Amino acid sequence: MAKKPLNIGLVGYGFMGRTHSNAFLQAPRFFDLPYQPVLKAVCARNPERARTFAANWGYESIETDWRALIAREDIDLIDIASPNDTHAEIAIAAAKAGKTVMCEKPLGRTAAEGKGMLDAIEAAGVPNMVWYNYRRVPALVLLKQLLDEGRFGRIFHYRSQFLQDWTISSDLPQGGEGLWRLDASVAGSGVTGDLLAHNIDMALWLNGKITEVSAMTETFIKERKHTLTGKVEAVSIDDASSFIGRFENGSTALFEATRYARGHKALFTLEINGETASARWDLHDLHRLEFFDYRDEGRLRGWKSIHITDGDHPYMKNWWVPGLQIGYEHTFVHQVADFLIAVGEGKAAAPTFADGLACDYVTDAVLHSARTRQWTSALGA
Ligand SMILES: NC(=O)c1ccc[n+]([C@@H]2O[C@H](COP(=O)([O-])OP(=O)(O)OC[C@H]3O[C@@H](n4cnc5c(N)ncnc54)[C@H](O)[C@@H]3O)[C@@H](O)[C@H]2O)c1
Repeated sequence: MAKKPLNIGLVGYGFMGRTHSNAFLQAPRFFDLPYQPVLKAVCARNPERARTFAANWGYESIETDWRALIAREDIDLIDIASPNDTHAEIAIAAAKAGKTVMCEKPLGRTAAEGKGMLDAIEAAGVPNMVWYNYRRVPALVLLKQLLDEGRFGRIFHYRSQFLQDWTISSDLPQGGEGLWRLDASVAGSGVTGDLLAHNIDMALWLNGKITEVSAMTETFIKERKHTLTGKVEAVSIDDASSFIGRFENGSTALFEATRYARGHKALFTLEINGETASARWDLHDLHRLEFFDYRDEGRLRGWKSIHITDGDHPYMKNWWVPGLQIGYEHTFVHQVADFLIAVGEGKAAAPTFADGLACDYVTDAVLHSARTRQWTSALGA
């Protein structure tokens, strides 16, 4: 039976524009989906570069203003892959126009912005999703299954880090293309919204609500040249952010993100310790889950490294043969597949805008706690 076409309008052709385009192309080839994504239009402000991107990825047309993209009747889904300061305005307008909305993380620059986005989505009743793609790493889906099966018993500890090193040089300017992450007026915050948000979203999914946090942030380089003004300006982002906290299930939290950990490029790690089992995972080895089960026979007890490539591992039967691993880009493919299957069944697929807002509440609490040096509720309004 011919699949129903679903016309995609992508905003932004940077890093995420490429991962999303690849996912829309690959998902229907590897998964049985109720819709056929059609790359209808890409929107970016530079028409020449938008045309080059469109030709490379197979988009049928370009727009240079996202408002024109949303106004088009032949677009069903607006996919927001532009910097954080554009998310709210585009998502709210797209929802009002009745479009399905997929939005990059963080949902809003602040929880207040995220709340406005969730309200608009709910008022319009349109399908929605936030691209917290790491929820679709097969090893982490397996970990979620093991947790839901109760194999860990009572959870005591959850710890997670995201370490990078690309902003150490004081010569690196802030603002503008590629460097908008160093300008809090565009990004909302520094590593808190950019990196720690991934650790937090993952923790909320795996281990439940974070109730309160005590945080510390640091800006190591206080002034940088701004690309857009050409002037040396104060740096407004947090370069490093860490917190301790409590989960609703009684376990304790230990989190850290930084772009000043020399030698680390994208070291996203997490470890969870329960009464009867522990697990740890590392993005640099994303196809492995380290698992320790205290119920194993004493003589044989030890950490196992499970190679997540077999047909009975999450998503893997849709890929190659057992033993052959998949990687980063596949998390986005899985996200498109899960989303379209859910939309076809009239269901929501997490992470929804509500999940995105829950994460925004925690990042807001982290920043508030760091500013005030006080324990802060992370549950939001
Ligand atoms: N899920 C993830 O792991 C992940 C990873 C990286 C980035 N992100 C998120 O994705 C978003 C984009 O990040 P990126 O790394 O792709 O950035 P990028 O700088 O590589 O690309 C941003 C793109 O948006 C375009 N753009 C900017 N303003 C625009 C406007 N008004 N209208 C249309 N296009 C506009 C730029 O021209 C550029 O093509 C951010 O929200 C970021 O936080 C998520």
